[in-house]
Amino acid sequence: MHELYTALAGYYDAIYRRRVERVSREIDFVEELFQDEAEREVRKILDLACGTGIPTLELARRGYQVTGLDLHEEMLAVARRKAEINIEFIQGDALEIDFDEEFDAVTMFFSSIMYFDDSAIQQLFNSVKRALKQGGVFIADFPCWYYGGRDGPIVWDERKGDEWLVITDWREVEPATQKLHFKRLVQIVKPDGSFKAFMVDDELNIYTPREMRLLAEKHFRKVKIYGDLHELRPNDRRYWLVALK
Ligand SMILES: C[S@@+](CC[C@H](N)C(=O)[O-])C[C@H]1O[C@@H](n2cnc3c(N)ncnc32)[C@H](O)[C@@H]1O
Repeated sequence: MHELYTALAGYYDAIYRRRVERVSREIDFVEELFQDEAEREVRKILDLACGTGIPTLELARRGYQVTGLDLHEEMLAVARRKAEINIEFIQGDALEIDFDEEFDAVTMFFSSIMYFDDSAIQQLFNSVKRALKQGGVFIADFPCWYYGGRDGPIVWDERKGDEWLVITDWREVEPATQKLHFKRLVQIVKPDGSFKAFMVDDELNIYTPREMRLLAEKHFRKVKIYGDLHELRPNDRRYWLVALK
């Protein structure tokens, strides 16, 4: 089910090349949020569902003391290989973290929060709150799935060295349950024409900004939803949850 994070972990950064190119702007924005929303200086960060460490490494480069945690060892292996700075990477489930007032900020980037359904997200908020010091912030970004974009299939391609990745995405949304079935066929073509194919079939949970705010308000002192790297605007397609302990 999680082929994207296991068999394809070594291809993750190539598949998400455009995200890699954007991460420095994202972290500029996150640093503004630290300044404007946290009620303490942010130095120590827990990056949950850190994956191959795209944002984790960028935070570490900027001088933060970062711990990255992810469910999949294959993703962490890529992150460890890339890390030029000493970063602690831990394999684990974000729902089972056991930190007590250790971090100034907890982050969860790139839609990872969609892995948690109504009940799990409450458990997540509880664990995050416990991991944060008073005045610390939780920051998570998630997409809008109601913008009328095509459900697919959408075909696109990327390169990794001499390999050609042909990626076909489509999605099926169940309106009543707000479950999103995300399907992706990744074909990896070698220069000699031989290829391997992987099928990703993931189930994610859709949250509107209002739903996310209402859920987070049950656990945090102050909650704000931002738009995509700025204040919330009516047609934003990505949202940033900022929740203060
Ligand atoms: C879309 S990727 C995002 C990775 C990274 N945050 C980034 O910005 O590139 C989602 C990540 O969530 C991780 N994940 C999913 N469920 C998790 C859980 N319960 N606990 C920890 N990590 C989880 C996956 O292993 C995967 O690396």
